[in-house]
Amino acid sequence: MDFGLSDEQRDIMRMTREFTNERIAPRAREWDREHGIPAEVFAELGALGLWGVCVPEEYGGAGADYLSFIIVLEELSRGDAGLGVTVAVNTSLATLPILDYGTEEQKLEWVPRLATGEVIGAYALTEPGAGSDAASIATTARRDGDGYRLNGAKQFVTNAGIAGVFIVMARTGEPGGGSKGITAFIVDAKTEGLTLGREEEKLGINSSSTRGLTFEDARVPGSAVLGSEGEGFGIAMATLDGGRIGIAAQAVGIAQAAMETAVAYAKERRQFGQSIAEFQGIRWKLADMDRDIDAARLLTYRAAWLKMMGRPVTAAGAKAKLFASEMARRHTAEAVQVLGGYGYTKEFPAERFYRDAKITEIYEGTSEVQRIVISRELLGA
Ligand code: CAA
Repeated sequence: MDFGLSDEQRDIMRMTREFTNERIAPRAREWDREHGIPAEVFAELGALGLWGVCVPEEYGGAGADYLSFIIVLEELSRGDAGLGVTVAVNTSLATLPILDYGTEEQKLEWVPRLATGEVIGAYALTEPGAGSDAASIATTARRDGDGYRLNGAKQFVTNAGIAGVFIVMARTGEPGGGSKGITAFIVDAKTEGLTLGREEEKLGINSSSTRGLTFEDARVPGSAVLGSEGEGFGIAMATLDGGRIGIAAQAVGIAQAAMETAVAYAKERRQFGQSIAEFQGIRWKLADMDRDIDAARLLTYRAAWLKMMGRPVTAAGAKAKLFASEMARRHTAEAVQVLGGYGYTKEFPAERFYRDAKITEIYEGTSEVQRIVISRELLGA
């Protein structure tokens, strides 16, 4: 067994960390307040190959492995979790399903642009009435000549406001057909009949875009079908299997940033005639953070490694996301506690890490859904 990173993985980690330290972390507070990331940052990510780290070079990506991509998500999220999820969704939930299930024409049409950030991708599964019960989606896609007409509404779509393309799950079968009769479509954001809802006002990850979509007789060509008709639920689930590893990495990155903030503050802050890092009560909090971040990172790396080996990742990804997200929520709260009154103000980033961590327990499958996935495998159900 080898727990070491390859030279390439290490180089990618170092490069992303430097970029994060210089270009992201110092501006994250402003992006949180302004609710957006300047376009020039997206271009910088593109120049560094960070939109398509694990996309093969022949499709315009950096050609690195999947673990490198996971490392990039952790490092970006250390600086700004909103940027972390923007890249995570673009690559895990839009680019990789096209690479995995798309025709050669679909790959050539979309992947080189998604891998460079020329076009940003998004994933539209959730609906107002279909969250954890993803198989209950009601958006329909009815045959119309050689294409389809989409009708319905999607909700909480990360990247919606900046996306050029959406992976949309819609029902081609009978209403109420559950997971059967769902088809995945690659939908150009310029499609007539597709409109965006307002930006959601969120607790955290404020630099990222989250909106709803409405389809009103939106016509897409037959060539927009991803995979085959009726195969969409399996595609959606398998795509989320990978996506969840990315969210685990995001949670690890947020917790790491919170721990670094708490450690620096504890060394500086003096009370009762000594730095508060001298108190065992503070040391134990920091030690627990370090232990749990390490454990979460190992679960996350293992899930990424299984994916690289082509082995099943459904339960491994669910365990990584479940553990990392709950760990991040708990320890970001502890980081605020270490900073005391200062931690509660916007003068320090601890409160942002605390707000940002919460979503990792919710999106790409709640912690309750991860427990369903893990226990089903355990019980052979
Ligand atoms: N890979 C491939 N196929 C899978 C699969 C997987 N991981 N999981 C299930 N399937 C297949 C099953 O094999 C089954 O196929 P057959 O009918 O051929 O046997 C079919 O899908 C139905 O499976 P289930 O009976 O297990 O489905 P279910 O209705 O019980 O749902 C669930 C299970 C795990 C609860 C699922 O609905 C789920 O994951 N819900 C959460 C949805 C979610 O994560 N939403 C996040 C939205 S995206 C997001 O947050 C985006 C963002 O922008 C950040």
